[in-house]
Amino acid sequence: MSRLLRKRPALGMALLSGIATVVGLAISLSIDWFPAQASTAAGDIDNLWDVLLILSVPIFVLVMSVALYSVFAFRVPPGDMSDGAPIHGNTKLEVIWVTIPFVIVSALSVYAAVVLSDIEAKEKGAMIVNVTGQQFAWSFDYPGEGKLKSNRLVLPKGRRVEFRVKTKDVIHSFWVPQFRLKTDTVPGLTTKIRVTPNRLGSFDVVCAELCGIGHSTMRQAVRVLPPAQFAAWVAKRTQRAGDGGVAAAGGDAAAAGKGLFNDTGCKACHTLADAGSDAKIGPGLDDLAEKDAVMFGKKNGQSPEEYVKNSIEDPAAFVVPKFPKDTMPKTYKDDLSPEEIDTLVKYLLTVSGGKSK
Ligand code: CUA
Repeated sequence: MSRLLRKRPALGMALLSGIATVVGLAISLSIDWFPAQASTAAGDIDNLWDVLLILSVPIFVLVMSVALYSVFAFRVPPGDMSDGAPIHGNTKLEVIWVTIPFVIVSALSVYAAVVLSDIEAKEKGAMIVNVTGQQFAWSFDYPGEGKLKSNRLVLPKGRRVEFRVKTKDVIHSFWVPQFRLKTDTVPGLTTKIRVTPNRLGSFDVVCAELCGIGHSTMRQAVRVLPPAQFAAWVAKRTQRAGDGGVAAAGGDAAAAGKGLFNDTGCKACHTLADAGSDAKIGPGLDDLAEKDAVMFGKKNGQSPEEYVKNSIEDPAAFVVPKFPKDTMPKTYKDDLSPEEIDTLVKYLLTVSGGKSK
């Protein structure tokens, strides 16, 4: 066998690379490389990837099999110290191995450029969403929906979205794997990227650029809703931001406050009997109006209302003794409207024994 292959090297190489190509293609195409497809761009990008595999696996396999074959078939017999035969090139072969890659690479770049311009195409009626990265969270606002702000990304299915991506500090990378969308946030620049979600559900928003110690926690979710549900979400959020949620709670300010306490995460860390919470990570709030707000407020030169408001907006400014520093998120000032914070402050002081107006 080895003698035959040595006499007919082209036959041996063709045989080996043929088998290896089939095996390589079968393996690479059977792997499920990507998560679910949730945007109109996903199919195009996944097809491009498959074409790249179909073209590059045989080339890789051809190069490797020729190299391995040569190592095996042309190794020097023991004791043979003679030089190899001089070779002065092979014009035909060189023309072939320059032309074929040139054609392949040119065709691929044209194909990739067409895919890119398709998936990034501008469309009328696109919804603009501003995305802001900061160490270590994403926040979103919707200038076309009454400047709505949110720390959750919610999108309607089937509508073109133009993300305008910025950063408050370092370089992050805004990545939604299921949309096949990724773009860096660069200080001083606004990067635009467009996508049309076409699948309902909840997908990942990930930071894909090492941006500091909390990089791995910079993960949120995007929810894609049917358009009517999206409109309802916008209406609810807008109203809540405008009046602190009072109208949505049927005019009951206490119910609105309790809703905010439960929905925005206060409940996860603070004990408050009125809201049925017994968490112990942060200070308990059941005697806030009678004790802490008065005592610590006085210490900081604040009224009880100012003390509570400041504790929500700037939690690191004063930490109740014996409680951990830098545990409460500093994002509430951005995520809640002034009216919502007001509702929350009044609620907390009312249910903890005070008589806040
Ligand atoms: Cu932001 Cu990593």
